[in-house]
Amino acid sequence: MWKYVFLSPLALALASPYSYRTNPIQCPVIFDGRVPQNFTPASFNLASTSPYSPQYVKGENLTWSEIILLPNTTTSRFDTLLVHRPLEVTINDASLFRSGSGLQLGFRRAGLLLRDDKNAAGADAADQGVVTFHWSVRQDVSRSMNLSHEYMNVWHEKADYSGNQFTFVGGVVLPVDGGSGLDTPEEKNVWKIQNHKNEFVFRTPIRNDVWQNFGVQLDYANSTIRVYYSAGNGPLEDVTGALPNDNSGGGQLQLGMAKKPTETETVVWDGYQEPMPQGEGQIYGGVFVEDSSNGCVSL
Ligand SMILES: *[C@@H]1O[C@H](CO)[C@@H](O)[C@H](O)[C@H]1NC(C)=O
Ligand SMILES: *[C@@H]1O[C@H](CO)[C@@H](O)[C@H](O)[C@H]1NC(C)=O
Ligand SMILES: *[C@@H]1O[C@H](CO)[C@@H](O)[C@H](O)[C@H]1NC(C)=O
Ligand SMILES: *[C@@H]1O[C@H](CO)[C@@H](O)[C@H](O)[C@H]1NC(C)=O
Repeated sequence: MWKYVFLSPLALALASPYSYRTNPIQCPVIFDGRVPQNFTPASFNLASTSPYSPQYVKGENLTWSEIILLPNTTTSRFDTLLVHRPLEVTINDASLFRSGSGLQLGFRRAGLLLRDDKNAAGADAADQGVVTFHWSVRQDVSRSMNLSHEYMNVWHEKADYSGNQFTFVGGVVLPVDGGSGLDTPEEKNVWKIQNHKNEFVFRTPIRNDVWQNFGVQLDYANSTIRVYYSAGNGPLEDVTGALPNDNSGGGQLQLGMAKKPTETETVVWDGYQEPMPQGEGQIYGGVFVEDSSNGCVSL
């Protein structure tokens, strides 16, 4: 009869060759954005509980408890089963920002900032030495992206907002952001990582069936960028080697969803956005920033 015993997800995980009991994080953690298992969406409203800023970056009139979902999907590679859980950042027609008296109607955005990630050049340990930024994503098919649009989902933005050291984008990237703007399947259904010049240094298909794990390593002394990637629970692989990159300018890691308009001149003020009655979401897990100064990287 043992063959017919139903194995709980926990038993399956413990039985798998990549056991979750081994913590794959091997290096000193600078910022830990992993979500404790006992969190509720309201935990993100308070600086006392959330690893993220309760204030930024969300549409006016919205609270994080209205934006964050805690989906019951499997645990990602760099989260620990029964200790951490995934979070989902959502956007909808109300994900709007104001500048002066005007609503910025071009884009829709909700973005998390790590609470202790200071926005000044060299202000914290993630802006010096060698640092690896980690995140995993998974798709919520009931709130999927419309990949005819550009989605900027993770980036490290310079303290003076003049650019990003790297950017993680999906969908049809606008020409103003370094993309082709071509609404073809080859362009749409692909994750891309861009360097500080918005040149694409890595591409991989967006998958609906598994977690996808990314690491971006910035070497501030040698001025390089290196991308790590794996699907499912596989160990990360170096998929680019060290490439030249201008990592100066400090700043902060941004993580969430920023949906750009189509048919736009300014991105911020004009362009087309179809209504999103169900909203759209992006599931994140295993968000952390580690010190790779001693050649250490968690795979
Ligand atoms: C936020 O609330 C104010 C006051 O009710 C309202 O005027 C404004 O339009 C709202 N903003 C959005 C984006 O809905
Ligand atoms: C996850 O499951 C719990 C318990 O069944 C439920 O309350 C919660 O709404 C679920 N989360 C999502 C995002 O569906
Ligand atoms: C997806 O976006 C494109 C470009 O804005 C739009 O034409 C299309 O109607 C959208 N699709 C859905 C299902 O909303
Ligand atoms: C940075 O450059 C130095 C000197 O060329 C080299 O020894 C070191 O291995 C480089 N660091 C990395 C992480 O590649």
